[in-house]
Amino acid sequence: MVETETFVPDAIEEIDDEIGDANAVIALSGGVDSSVAAALAYEAVGDQLTPVYVDTGLMRKGETEQIEETFSYMDSLRIVDARERFLEALSGVTDPEEKRAVIGEQFIREFEREARDADADYLVQGTIYPDRIESEGGIKSHHNVGGLPEVVDFEDIVEPVRDLYKDEVREVARHLGLEEVVAERMPFPGPGLAVRVIGEVTEEKLAVAREACHVVEEELEEYDPWQALAAVIGKATGVKGDNRVHGWVVSVRSVDSRDGMTAQAQQIDWETLQRIQSRITGENDDVARVVYDVTHKPPATIEYE
Ligand code: XMP
Repeated sequence: MVETETFVPDAIEEIDDEIGDANAVIALSGGVDSSVAAALAYEAVGDQLTPVYVDTGLMRKGETEQIEETFSYMDSLRIVDARERFLEALSGVTDPEEKRAVIGEQFIREFEREARDADADYLVQGTIYPDRIESEGGIKSHHNVGGLPEVVDFEDIVEPVRDLYKDEVREVARHLGLEEVVAERMPFPGPGLAVRVIGEVTEEKLAVAREACHVVEEELEEYDPWQALAAVIGKATGVKGDNRVHGWVVSVRSVDSRDGMTAQAQQIDWETLQRIQSRITGENDDVARVVYDVTHKPPATIEYE
């Protein structure tokens, strides 16, 4: 396990040596890795670091507000409202991999503009040890936002948590006083809610998925899932009041896993499932039914797209 007492001052000193008097940028994703990298780098170089958070509109409920709050002490924090641009770029896109590509490209465009604007020479990244192993081995390369170093001409990339495992990063996060919600957060995919709505991404589907994911995270906390989520998987007939409606079908998924490569669907008790169902259908009139996904990985994946 990492010795946080020595790791933190050493990391700060190293970043300071690397960046010196230059400017740096970091993309904040809301995840623990980039949060810790940003906190260490800000400690090292202060406002020479511009932390950039791009609000893609594909984030979890309250995520933007949470980031604003957590990092409000950084004067140089930039929050980019790119929600409309992402929706526009995704309009008509239904293929899962194409969605990922469109999101990745749009993200780079947004970030590149901010990096130029900040006159940054250095890129700070929250790459952790397993990310390096995975990209060296060529597995799941699409899972990380790739390509950034190629589009902006950075002098160098600074990766303060490159030798740490996830649980060690969480340890450092706690040591740095980053709120529990950041330190303990379950994994959330880079393309966000876009892979939790099947087919074209629309504002309406995103709103249903966002609220349902929030309900699921809250209600399943006691099961301590590795990942729990809800996805909008289609439309079906239902009855609301005296009317037959054609509403959304929301699928709830909760899995145990070690590394996300394989996963087991969790066994959830009936009362909890019913409570989730009644909250999701109760909070949104346009949801006609809620189902629970009992499929392990393999053969299913964790996300729906
Ligand atoms: P799957 O759905 O492939 O997910 O079983 C395994 C883990 O990876 C996450 N995931 C992604 N993360 N970009 C990411 O950053 C992606 O495109 C992506 N797709 C899936 C998923 O949330 C799970 O933790």
